[in-house]
Amino acid sequence: MRSRPGEAQPFYVTTPIYYPNDVPHIGHAYTSVAADALARWRRLWGDDVMFLTGTDEHGLKMQRTAEAEGITPQELVDRTSPTFRELATSLDITNSDFIRTTEPRHHAAVQQFLQKIYDNGYIELGTYEGLYCVSCEAYYTEDELMDGNCPIHARPVERVTEDNYFFQLSRFEDRLLEHYDARPEAVQPETRRNEVLGFIKQGLRDFSVSRTSITWGVPLPWDPKHVAYVWADALFNYCSAIGYATDRERFDRYWPVDYHLIGKDILRFHAVYWPAMLFAADEAPPKCVFAHGWLQIGGDKMSKTQGNVIRPADLIEEFGVDGYRYHFLADQRFGPDGEFSYENMLARYNADLANNFGNLANRVLNMAVSYCEGVAPEARAEGPLVEASRVAFDGVQAAMEHLDFARAFGAVWDLIRAANSFIEDQEPWKLHKAGDTAATAAVLGDCLEALRIVALLASPVIPRAAAELWTRLGLEGGPEDQRLPDAAAWGLGPSGTKLDKGAPLFPRIES
Ligand code: MSP
Repeated sequence: MRSRPGEAQPFYVTTPIYYPNDVPHIGHAYTSVAADALARWRRLWGDDVMFLTGTDEHGLKMQRTAEAEGITPQELVDRTSPTFRELATSLDITNSDFIRTTEPRHHAAVQQFLQKIYDNGYIELGTYEGLYCVSCEAYYTEDELMDGNCPIHARPVERVTEDNYFFQLSRFEDRLLEHYDARPEAVQPETRRNEVLGFIKQGLRDFSVSRTSITWGVPLPWDPKHVAYVWADALFNYCSAIGYATDRERFDRYWPVDYHLIGKDILRFHAVYWPAMLFAADEAPPKCVFAHGWLQIGGDKMSKTQGNVIRPADLIEEFGVDGYRYHFLADQRFGPDGEFSYENMLARYNADLANNFGNLANRVLNMAVSYCEGVAPEARAEGPLVEASRVAFDGVQAAMEHLDFARAFGAVWDLIRAANSFIEDQEPWKLHKAGDTAATAAVLGDCLEALRIVALLASPVIPRAAAELWTRLGLEGGPEDQRLPDAAAWGLGPSGTKLDKGAPLFPRIES
């Protein structure tokens, strides 16, 4: 059941669930930060946001990692899963829930879901012989390999033969093509959509959804010698967390999901296997799967396997949470591959946050505190910043429709630049010196109001600085309590409030 008129609109966004065999790195944090900015943005619009993240704890990879450490897989994941929860907290991620695939609520849902597909006649027993990459937890054909190795991890694959239950993916080719034809927006960006269509058109092969060679997983309800293949289990987290097995009303409120945000390496699972399995279980497919590129270092994908891992905690310590979020959202295009460079991060922090944004806030607050006795003058109904604010809001809104965080932030930056040049033009310090109180108040009133709108629009990306600025402007609550589109209208404040100049919002970093 979606919303009734006047009720908050449900909005459901997910990150992939992460393999906790590894410590979290900036690649993992990347999707979570993006999903968080989107969740915050939708909350500003008054949506009832469900935002899910979590850890993917079954499969051969976990079993082997645990064996190598001489502990049980359960002990391993109980130790490592919390590091992903802590990562989310350390980045101010506002997830509504954190799912672990070892939880009973997930087991129950996976069993119910697979049973439904089995009862509907889309799963049958067969023998599989294939080439398996444990790092991907996926099978490859000979021609998909690169120099005989896994195309993603550049490591040897293993020949595996076993009796498996197969999901009849091949029966869903036409249904998937019809679906993507009717809903071009269901896979984004466009290049990824083409990739998915190309893959389906090549012809789909049935894939195995169970294993007998391992025990670390969810047993199939009709044949418990088999455990569910880790991907058949993992994908289902998106449904188990919203009550598939326990609360159908809640499930129907949030499903189908609005956005699955994922990395491009797991596109096929999300845009081919997953919708087909949902069709087979009589459920609707995701409204949109959005696949971003990889963060690379010196042209290589960052991963534990490559040995070039950067930990978010180190960067947060140096740049702060907002500095971190700003870099990965506003400085990297969300979609194509991006190159991580510390020098670039430092340069942009200083130029954009310390100089442009920080200076505007500091200058305006300082002048208003000393020239206007610390009380915010009223913004004028008309003036150059009125139009600039409207354009900024429209720009953010249009860019967020396409999850183009960099362009959205660019629109906020245009407003900051407009306010900075307005100050240069008007020279309020001269007006003040000349004793023109009315003109000084007018200029500063306009700038303070522009700052309020900047804080509001920037809050999904740099929530701490935005909230701090809000408070310094003397406004009540925080940006997150505001509702768009009304709150973006010019002239809502901070007239008559008590201002606080405070310390620089983004101190320069000299490293
Ligand atoms: N457990 C599966 C996902 C199951 S979802 C039902 C998995 N886990 S993962 O931990 O290996 O990767 C999780 C996400 O992190 C993927 O979207 C992957 O693309 C992303 N990244 C891992 N390394 C990355 C980069 N270097 N850059 C950007 N994202 C990357 O796959």
